[in-house]
Amino acid sequence: MKALTWHGKGDVRCESVPDPRVEHPRDAIIKVTACAICGSDLHIFDGVIPDMKHGDIIGHETMGEVVEVGPENKKLKVGDRVVVPFTIACGECFFCKKGFFSGCERTNPDHAKAATLWGHSPAGLFGYSHLLGGYPGGQAEYMRVPYADVGPLKVPQALSDEQVLFLSDIFPTGYMAADFCNIQPDDTIAVWGCGPVGQFAIRSAFLLGAARVIAVDTVPERLQLARDAGAVTIDFMKEDVYDRIQDLTHGRGADACIDAVGTEPKTTASADSVLDRIKVATFMGTDRPHVLRQAIHCCRNFGTVSIVGVYGGFLDNIPMGSAINRGLTFRMAQTPVQHYLPKLLERIEKGEIDPSFVITHRATLEQGPELYKTFRDKKDNCIKVVMKP
Ligand SMILES: NC(=O)c1ccc[n+]([C@@H]2O[C@H](COP(=O)([O-])OP(=O)(O)OC[C@H]3O[C@@H](n4cnc5c(N)ncnc54)[C@H](O)[C@@H]3O)[C@@H](O)[C@H]2O)c1
Ligand SMILES: [Zn+2]
Ligand SMILES: [Zn+2]
Repeated sequence: MKALTWHGKGDVRCESVPDPRVEHPRDAIIKVTACAICGSDLHIFDGVIPDMKHGDIIGHETMGEVVEVGPENKKLKVGDRVVVPFTIACGECFFCKKGFFSGCERTNPDHAKAATLWGHSPAGLFGYSHLLGGYPGGQAEYMRVPYADVGPLKVPQALSDEQVLFLSDIFPTGYMAADFCNIQPDDTIAVWGCGPVGQFAIRSAFLLGAARVIAVDTVPERLQLARDAGAVTIDFMKEDVYDRIQDLTHGRGADACIDAVGTEPKTTASADSVLDRIKVATFMGTDRPHVLRQAIHCCRNFGTVSIVGVYGGFLDNIPMGSAINRGLTFRMAQTPVQHYLPKLLERIEKGEIDPSFVITHRATLEQGPELYKTFRDKKDNCIKVVMKP
């Protein structure tokens, strides 16, 4: 089959690789009908994710048709149309039983390695580093789905691939970001990053009843899409983000701040982001947490900082003094996608949101390597790429 494979920083290729096979009785094989490139894939593309190997099949936003099921899989049948969550969960362990699917303690075969870095291991992820299981990803013609009687969600024929594909990741992620904010009717929610995840966080904040959303980015078409959703926007390269949020909230700060940027913010936005860049380049630091620092500063006393932008290691100069003295709550996670799926599918079916609003580019797998660059460089008004193998 054809698949997108990783060969080092900035080097993604469309190659022929062996077809996946059922390896465990609970597995399923799906024929991919649609898959997308995520901002998290850009961290891999930019070479900041450790423990990738040459030839790894990448991608974790995938849906398709079941073409083979293992003998113990009683949930799926050949021909079922499913969306596959990016987090792999067993459904039976301590964490899965509590709904913390992305904390599953059974699906990362390399958990000792992850525990060395992080203390404990989270769940395995598709197409995302051997630290998290090294599972072949879904930017491919076919994908093997382990624990396929737990994760995959059957989707109704009435909804198109483009309407349901993002249930695999960015819709639940944006929704979780807003859900973490415990939104009250008068609340102002500030969202850093108007990429695909930020866009879903903005719309989810309104769905959950926010009075106002302030969206921060610098890319014009992304800011426009945020305004289309009803957000007030701030261009961080032209305006002082803290001052604008102070003005908009009568000096109190935002009720909750969502970091939907993570470890790769624009370098030239501020002095601290330049310094972070230098530290990472000289192996003096692992991450570039400018947005997290700013989000803490802009959050009101006893407000919530909700982090869905991904960080990998040890973050320097986080203003914990600000956070503890002012009673901030921190929430963060790799999304336990399975936990959110039923209610988000229901919202799509009811027409409360059509997730396809974020798609700007439709392509083949062969065009994938080029589109990684287009998406990374925000060229050609690119916001979200969907590939149809
Ligand atoms: N927690 C999870 O489960 C999960 C799931 C999916 C994605 N993510 C993460 O979410 C983040 C966003 O993903 P995406 O697909 O939207 O990626 P993206 O790269 O398309 O979007 C990031 C956006 O942040 C903007 N930005 C850069 N610097 C900024 C700054 N200083 N202030 C405000 N905005 C700034 C960029 O212009 C861009 O529009 C990534 O870190 C990704 O890894 C997390
Ligand atoms: Zn993702
Ligand atoms: Zn589990």
